[in-house]
Amino acid sequence: MSKHLIAILPGDGIGPEVIGQATRLLELYRERRGLPLDLWHLDLGADRYLKDGTTYPKDVAERIRTEARAVLLGALGDPRVPGLEHAKDILFGMRFGLDLYANVRPVKALADRVVPLKGRTAKDVDFVVFRENTEGIYVGMGGQFKRGTPDEIAINEDLNTRKGVERLIRAGFVYAKAHGKKTVHMADKSNAMRHAHELWYRVFFEVAREYPGIEAKHVYVDALCLYLVQDPSAFEVVVTCNLFGDIVTDLAAAFQGGLGMAASANVHASDPSRVAMFEPVHGSAPPLAGKDLANPIASFLTVGMMLSHLGYAGEEQRIERACTAAIDARQCTRDVGGELGTKATASFILAEIEKSF
Ligand SMILES: NC(=O)c1ccc[n+]([C@@H]2O[C@H](COP(=O)([O-])OP(=O)(O)OC[C@H]3O[C@@H](n4cnc5c(N)ncnc54)[C@H](O)[C@@H]3O)[C@@H](O)[C@H]2O)c1
Repeated sequence: MSKHLIAILPGDGIGPEVIGQATRLLELYRERRGLPLDLWHLDLGADRYLKDGTTYPKDVAERIRTEARAVLLGALGDPRVPGLEHAKDILFGMRFGLDLYANVRPVKALADRVVPLKGRTAKDVDFVVFRENTEGIYVGMGGQFKRGTPDEIAINEDLNTRKGVERLIRAGFVYAKAHGKKTVHMADKSNAMRHAHELWYRVFFEVAREYPGIEAKHVYVDALCLYLVQDPSAFEVVVTCNLFGDIVTDLAAAFQGGLGMAASANVHASDPSRVAMFEPVHGSAPPLAGKDLANPIASFLTVGMMLSHLGYAGEEQRIERACTAAIDARQCTRDVGGELGTKATASFILAEIEKSF
């Protein structure tokens, strides 16, 4: 069997701590289950950038594009690099360079006690957000004029293409159909963004016509934030643009117990054979870094998504069950009500997984 080449970039801040534990999980699967995983450790991130100016070398990008099946990425962001040069090159180099147009963010609570909403339990929190990942304001179009003067002007353009909007919306419907979901919500701001989001509105209902069994519901993103807090169980699949997806999924992560619990995949959804990139939703959390405090569960669930992508869907569920066991037994980090450190939490989950083989 040919090996799956997995590129691993630990990232900055808490990144190396949680990705280090996620790597133990991949090693467990390789050693104990015989999964053909070829782990390729890359020394890229803020430390490397500060050492020799390297961000995302062309030969690495090319090998990832042509040979790798997946990338595991820790968060990027370091106070020593305020301009985030390395983070932009690496993160956008992958999302844009590999055309990973769908950022898939499951919002699922693993236990009642981590859900902070009054009267709500884990069964009320189970939906997936499809965030457009290659367009919007993140393309970096714009500029500053008369910078530093009283007359300065700053512009960021919001780029939306028919192709980009349509394929992301379709990815949401394809997912809904494959998973037996009944509704897809599309969140925009078409009442204010009359050009860009009128496109989203129009394309959404056009694509929806191809999926007659699925109810297509439009919601303004500001109202979505309200409805999510009032009743998250009303949502199954949400499709939205890059910026709104970024914001809404941090809000939604709170329903799961915080950012330490939120996983994500960046995929070229119409062709699962292409390389995909997997990362916990959270950032590098500089205040937690180096203290063994970061929750590794988001990274474990992220590996679960990666294993599904590689064709081992049952393993995603196994990992989720083991993470749930850690939460239930309070064998977890402080952010989700435990007393353990990053490593001890990971060890508990790894032992649970090993027991279940
Ligand atoms: N994809 C990415 O690489 C990515 C995503 C978001 C933020 N960032 C970067 O990360 C840096 C910090 O950003 P921020 O503070 O806004 O966001 P953050 O996600 O790092 O932290 C937000 C909050 O969540 C908590 N948190 C995050 N991950 C956690 C974990 N695993 N366990 C327990 N608690 C956790 C933090 O302590 C903090 O209170 C910035 O440089 C930012 O640009 C990177």
